[in-house]
Amino acid sequence: MGVMRMGYVHAKVTDLAEADQHYSQVMGLYETAREDGTIYYKGWDEFDHHSVVIEEGGVGVVKVGFKVRTLEDLAQYETRLQQFGATVERMSAGENLKVGDGIRFIAPNGHVFELYHEMEQVGVEVGTHCPDSFPMDLRGIGAPNLDHGLFVGDDVEGVEKLFIEALDFYPSERMLATGDDGAPLIATWLSCGNKSHDIAFLKGPDGKLHHFAFYLKDWNHVTAAADILVHHDTPMDLPPTRHGITRGETTYFFDPSGNRNETFAGGYLMYPDRPCVEWTMDQLGKGLDYYRREVTPTFLTVYS
Ligand SMILES: [Fe+2]
Repeated sequence: MGVMRMGYVHAKVTDLAEADQHYSQVMGLYETAREDGTIYYKGWDEFDHHSVVIEEGGVGVVKVGFKVRTLEDLAQYETRLQQFGATVERMSAGENLKVGDGIRFIAPNGHVFELYHEMEQVGVEVGTHCPDSFPMDLRGIGAPNLDHGLFVGDDVEGVEKLFIEALDFYPSERMLATGDDGAPLIATWLSCGNKSHDIAFLKGPDGKLHHFAFYLKDWNHVTAAADILVHHDTPMDLPPTRHGITRGETTYFFDPSGNRNETFAGGYLMYPDRPCVEWTMDQLGKGLDYYRREVTPTFLTVYS
């Protein structure tokens, strides 16, 4: 499959210095560039130049980049997105710092997505020759890499269809309003590889960000990260628990601008022939917070 992963999230923040403190000192991301009101970061185990971009001037998500395997993939997806009916434009090398040529489209839920094949690689501190298992200078949570995002918009059916038919994603889990035939789709979790999900969509106001998530190795790292969040007085949204949906271990919290972040571990291995799991909204509590089986009030109301 051509789409490899969610390569970057470009988000807006209200105060660059406060956000920098959060992403560099609490999340432990490495700054790789800074220019007029924008900072670029990578996790310690990411080779590409950046995975998180923050830009001063608001809240929410500006755009999301997915990296594809080959240049031919870009041309193929451009054609297939056009056939799907999406408006696609070419993106020139340099439009995004250190990112090569690509394509850009607006999804039915109002989000801007970019596909690209090249981003300058800056490597990792442990290198690739007989490497140590982690760098010794990690700060805060020391998140190794960006994992996935959940994006809000009205047309969940439409954006799911686009990602499946034009971009070769496949659904791992779906949330329906009820168990009745033809019940509206409330949310969908989609994979482009072997993770339980690489992106998810939730019904709500167009163009909104629910959260973007950083991968952590296991439950111990999720709880240790939560301790670090408390040390920094980071507003916690959902304390460490397991999601019923994807089985992932999770903590939700907010950056200083109110963008929700997640630390995420676990989840099962996904393959295209694994049947999709189906949920109904009466079980949302179990799906979101498996142990308490309650819906955190902010989950369906607070977006940025
Ligand atoms: Fe998530």
